[in-house]
Amino acid sequence: MSEPGKHYKERIKHDPQAAEDYVRRKPHKDKAEMDLVRRGFGLTDGVKSVLDAPCGVGRATILLASMGFDATGLDLGESAVEVARRELEKTQLYGEIVTGDLEDLAYDDDFFDAVLCFRVYHHFPNDEVRDRVITELCRVARKYVLISYFSPYSVTSLKRALRKRFTKKKSIQHATNLASIAARFERSGFRLKKNLPQFRFVHTLHLAIFERTN
Ligand SMILES: C[S@@+](CC[C@H](N)C(=O)[O-])C[C@H]1O[C@@H](n2cnc3c(N)ncnc32)[C@H](O)[C@@H]1O
Repeated sequence: MSEPGKHYKERIKHDPQAAEDYVRRKPHKDKAEMDLVRRGFGLTDGVKSVLDAPCGVGRATILLASMGFDATGLDLGESAVEVARRELEKTQLYGEIVTGDLEDLAYDDDFFDAVLCFRVYHHFPNDEVRDRVITELCRVARKYVLISYFSPYSVTSLKRALRKRFTKKKSIQHATNLASIAARFERSGFRLKKNLPQFRFVHTLHLAIFERTN
């Protein structure tokens, strides 16, 4: 791969300020999102090792480590990795933060029991990137992939679509229907186990849990 993440460069957290700002996001939003991740992992079984990719500033990696998983956080953004390492160290929980590219993961097949891919899918600009990332996530996951996506069937998505239409603003976030995501997972030997909305019809963020079939 010539340049990792070249189609959505502006979303990669190389900038220290962007990484620090993410640490200080609205606490209620952060809590609701981490509750969703917690609920998702509550539906898995036989999971010990988890890859959190991308980890951003490490909030889900820390949550997973606190839940007793053997957690590895991975991100392409230099500042994200730096801040995630610092935040993880503060907790004194066991875990690892590494630099890596979602489109080309440096792990053997089935390396992790589960992979979490949270709050990035909606940034992917085209099907080529979506296919590449899902193929990679499924390749390194022995049993589960938990992936968040923006549902088009929500008040927030509707508002975003209207804003886009009337202001002609180019949206950098893409809502996707679950069927198209499930079809990609099916091609990699995974089926949908459960789809968890953060809050049905209001919030756009959903977490889908896929399980290996073979
Ligand atoms: C919105 S943040 C979400 C991070 C984390 N999952 C969370 O919810 O806190 C998206 C992250 O994806 C990372 N990212 C974007 N493209 C990537 C790629 N191809 N490989 C690895 N990380 C990537 C960015 O650097 C950024 O830290």
